[in-house]
Amino acid sequence: MPRLDEPHYFGAGPALLPTAVLQQASIDLLNYKDSGLGLGEISHRSALAVDVVNTAVANIKSLLDVPETHDVFFLQGGGTGEFAAVVYNMLASYALKTGKKGKADYIVTGSWSDKALQEAKRLGIDVNIVVNSKRDGKYRGIPDTTEWKFGSPEDTAYVYYCDNETVDGVEFSYVPEVPEGVDLVADMSSNILSKKVDVSKYALIFAGAQKNIGMAGVTVVICKRSLLQKAPDAKLVELNIPLAPLVLDFAIIAKNNSLYNTLPIFNVHIVSLTTDRLIAAGGLAVQEQISGDNAAKLYAALDAAPEGTFGLIVAKNSRSRMNIVFTILGEGKEKEFLDGAKVRGMTGLAGHRSVGGIRVSNYNAVSPSSVDLLVSWINEFAGTK
Ligand SMILES: Cc1ncc(COP(=O)(O)O)c(C=O)c1O
Repeated sequence: MPRLDEPHYFGAGPALLPTAVLQQASIDLLNYKDSGLGLGEISHRSALAVDVVNTAVANIKSLLDVPETHDVFFLQGGGTGEFAAVVYNMLASYALKTGKKGKADYIVTGSWSDKALQEAKRLGIDVNIVVNSKRDGKYRGIPDTTEWKFGSPEDTAYVYYCDNETVDGVEFSYVPEVPEGVDLVADMSSNILSKKVDVSKYALIFAGAQKNIGMAGVTVVICKRSLLQKAPDAKLVELNIPLAPLVLDFAIIAKNNSLYNTLPIFNVHIVSLTTDRLIAAGGLAVQEQISGDNAAKLYAALDAAPEGTFGLIVAKNSRSRMNIVFTILGEGKEKEFLDGAKVRGMTGLAGHRSVGGIRVSNYNAVSPSSVDLLVSWINEFAGTK
């Protein structure tokens, strides 16, 4: 059966990709630029492959207006690999600057920042929890900054947070203010390239590609160049700082233009193709408008439903534009909602296995017409149309 032009798919990741990107990619997987070989077959060090990496990096730099102070490169190991990479690299750079083993501040507003925190603890880092918004087993939004408690700036190597919590549907609408001189690290796996970002405010941004910009297998890293300077291994050992595996060592990966070891070039190419389209469509200001409009329509429909139809627990000022998370109240009602959606051609709506309920992922490839279809089903289900 041929693929629909526009599947109405709201999966949280791996997520929908534009059909035109997949059509081009399928050609390139067979025979890239008339080389007679597909992109999964050529050497990652060939001129063609290097060009793929350079194009993807240039596109990301241009879309996010990445300043000269920052570098962009690709890693493997997913978002989870980055949880560890952050620890190794931030502490190694801090050790060079200060001669000390730094501590780390974690802002916990959902399952992914909590997972990053657990990884930091597992690697033997002294962590301070700035705030943890979990109440009665659920994350309900971003607590007011007056409740945050940062560690001492003299000892803190970095402050970590997750800009969009994919499971819980919690998103920052602002850049967290951190103590003067402390580096800010953000996981933007599920909202990268969905809005404009002032990169200069961050020491490090990372994002798995498989939601907004590509397929699983590559992670984008945007990193302040000064972080690539780190204390020598002997000093790190002396300070009891774990040494980064070579594949997670930012300095090595950056120095080798992401090609220190075999990078999945086909996956990087998908990033090039999606970012080419974003640029052609007008860049992040346009995408931000589309994402915001889509999310606003969905929340408006949910909020307009009679009391007792849907359960939305995330505070309005922390609602994610990317992952709209809610429950359907009433025995058997969730199944009715999902079955009704399926009959109308919409899939990928079941919530994360850890929280259940419904999750609508509104990533870049989800079209306004898919959102309109879902809004009309929400209205019909709630009896508000
Ligand atoms: C915000 C966020 N961070 C990290 C991860 C982990 O990514 P991976 O599965 O690539 O390790 C995910 C996965 O969904 C995520 O949504």
